Amino acid sequence: MTIAATPSLDHTPLLADEADVRAHPDRFRVLTGDRPTGELHLGHYFGTLHNRVRLQAMGVDTFVVIADYQVITDRDLPAGINRTVHGIVLDYLAAGLDPSRTTIFAHSSVPALNQLMLPFLALTSVAEMQRNPTVKEEAAAAGLTSISGLLLTYPVHQAADILFCHGNLVPVGADQLPHIEQARLVARRFNERFGDGQQLFRPPQGLLSATPALLGVDGRKMSKSRGNGISLRASEDHTAQLIRRTVTDSERHITYEPQRRPEVANLLLIGALCADVEPAELADQIGARGAAHLKAVVTDAVNDHLRPLRARRAELATDRGVVRDVLRSGAERANDIATNTLDDVQRALGMHY
Ligand code: TRP
Repeated sequence: MTIAATPSLDHTPLLADEADVRAHPDRFRVLTGDRPTGELHLGHYFGTLHNRVRLQAMGVDTFVVIADYQVITDRDLPAGINRTVHGIVLDYLAAGLDPSRTTIFAHSSVPALNQLMLPFLALTSVAEMQRNPTVKEEAAAAGLTSISGLLLTYPVHQAADILFCHGNLVPVGADQLPHIEQARLVARRFNERFGDGQQLFRPPQGLLSATPALLGVDGRKMSKSRGNGISLRASEDHTAQLIRRTVTDSERHITYEPQRRPEVANLLLIGALCADVEPAELADQIGARGAAHLKAVVTDAVNDHLRPLRARRAELATDRGVVRDVLRSGAERANDIATNTLDDVQRALGMHY
């Protein structure tokens, strides 16, 4: 048996056109997710949460998976995964995800989803998985000397995350595009090899956020596992402290030059996104007043922008039942759909007794 890249009947490009989504929200189903490794921060907020809330508002049926099994791909299970997941759900709700329109669930709660990984693995070669650049980067970033089977195969797991609900639109950062390619291959190969003329799965498309990746307080990419982010739930004082600590450069006059002055440009970008102005405009307003003034302006912009979100979050946090209900009803819907899909897949495989 060979696992070949066979020609496909489906010609949708890897990236979706947002105008298309806006015009025909009913043709799309969004599936995206997060690995629960820490607190959600401004990078998630402007990079993905905003996008999800926008898609939800366009009327696209939206699924958000909390990818808890993915946490143990490259690290020991951190203490308190339960608390981390709880906190992320509060962040989602505070940012505007509405559980009556968006299905939020943890993938460990959906066994039929996980079982899809078996036939999907049969459609994927080890060489293909070993070539995945994001897996290699994650292994390097975690300082691993060997790669676990779960880390190697997680892009295929992610294909199951997407395809179990026939998600066809995946809003993610550019680092996730190799995984969307993998999910597209799995969908096509499944149809070709087991579909008997039917297209059970549609190859999903990615949707990139318009916001470039934000840098963290240390000048490296903002990342929850690096702990260098400004978290959504941080207090106003802690936010001020984090921004005061960020790396800048020694030039006094503030200008927006992302290539030459990435750290200053990053602060301007954060301030501009929060205040809904252009970064260059914000730079002009600050001009000769220097980095300390820039940081004060950005702190106010972030705190002003997040104040309603933080207030909503604090209110939701007083009721432990809210998160439990969201995860239970999300898992119930996801389980119904996953069971149906697994049933179709087993029928296609002739495994129906
Ligand atoms: N791997 C993604 C991340 O690290 C999270 C994720 C899990 C995901 N399953 C997914 C994203 C399915 C999109 C679709 O951020």
